[in-house]
Amino acid sequence: MDESNRSGQWQSSFGFIIACVGSAVGLGNLWKFPYITYENGGGAFVLVYLIAISMVGLPILVAEIMIGRHGRHNVFASYKILSGNKWFWKFVGIFSILTSIAVLSFYLVVAGWSLSYFFNSISGNLLSQTKETVDPYFGEFVGSGVKQILYHTLFTLLTVWIVIRGTSGIERAVKFLMPLLFLFVLIIMIISISNFGGKSAFDFLFSFDLSKITAHGALQAVGHAFFTLSIGMGIMIIYGSYLPNGKSIIRASLWAVFFDTLIAIMACFMMYPIIFGNNLNLSASTSMLFTTLTVQFNSLPGGQYISAIFYLLVAFAALSSTISMIEPLVSYVAEEYNVKRKKATFTGAFIVWGLGLFSALSLGANPVLTHFKFFDKIDFLASNWGLTLGGLFVATFAGYVLPKKVRLEELGLKDNSLFYKFWLFCVRFFAPLMIIFIMLSELGIL
Ligand code: PFF
Repeated sequence: MDESNRSGQWQSSFGFIIACVGSAVGLGNLWKFPYITYENGGGAFVLVYLIAISMVGLPILVAEIMIGRHGRHNVFASYKILSGNKWFWKFVGIFSILTSIAVLSFYLVVAGWSLSYFFNSISGNLLSQTKETVDPYFGEFVGSGVKQILYHTLFTLLTVWIVIRGTSGIERAVKFLMPLLFLFVLIIMIISISNFGGKSAFDFLFSFDLSKITAHGALQAVGHAFFTLSIGMGIMIIYGSYLPNGKSIIRASLWAVFFDTLIAIMACFMMYPIIFGNNLNLSASTSMLFTTLTVQFNSLPGGQYISAIFYLLVAFAALSSTISMIEPLVSYVAEEYNVKRKKATFTGAFIVWGLGLFSALSLGANPVLTHFKFFDKIDFLASNWGLTLGGLFVATFAGYVLPKKVRLEELGLKDNSLFYKFWLFCVRFFAPLMIIFIMLSELGIL
């Protein structure tokens, strides 16, 4: 293995924290959380989600960074070295990388939509859309094979452009993009609430009706906790491997969870008032980020420009996630096959891009892929099954395989500290049991 192909170290704790936040905050918060919460009826889903994020997501995020910093290599090699070359853990390393390829392949397609909406805002095309036409407009757009491939390709190239620069490229890009995104989401949320009122959105999100919780909904909530925190496929193992000793893993994880949850909730308050206030009946809630907000923007003075800036920021948020998602594959290829980072990036991007074509063409352009619902299937399988299984492996590895001394050393804690006890309880018992229980229920076994 050639160490010179590693992509460097984070320059500061802040750089690392912001890279974690950048990876975590993305389409999962702005696009996915609002629509799966909407589909699952609001409150009850939010409650399961909040439990999942604090007692499954946070502990596993900490565990992943810990494995990465102690392993100091790509996902596969970290598992291999730390487990003493056990075949099972090498398989887990490969499994995580395969999941990252699957998630990134369809993620790049959605990220491409934000670019298209940016260009169509500038050109004024979106401005002519009304409450009645936003949905068909979106349907026509995703059904066009040429457009889907064009934007999907463009976004893949953007990702490559940043990733070949290594950690410093990632750090520099995200430091500037994240605060801007936060500010913009805040402004649009305030506009939505002041135009349509926030009460119905608040009631929808926070009236916890426990009878509405289903195994399927719970699997989605846990799956989404993984998706939104970028855990379960080794990204944080890689990011952790670039973290110098002595920097706090717990602090970075807490910030990532806090910002991630805040932005997801803000995204709901940005969109739900428009939906409830206009009695919008959205046929495909997957498109919420693109259809609902267009209605809002078009009713505002200067809406065209607000819309353009907003979709550009969505693209940036997606970019700070795609650059992290490609990292497990790139670092694996670079380190294990001893190739230069640039070549590894192009190879990885090509594989992901190729698989992404199936998703890009499955929204109307190709009848067979559309009938098979390739996009939905790969999203459901990779996000809910791939990531949760990956998370189960991480929890088990950190909780049972890593020696206690390593765990305490990496966390910088004593074994009687409250956080350590809470963390250990979660990775050893709570998270694995919850994941297994939900999986068995989903399979109809329980
Ligand atoms: N966390 C990112 C988001 O919420 O959009 C996307 C993501 C990144 C998902 C990394 C999964 C992942 F492993």
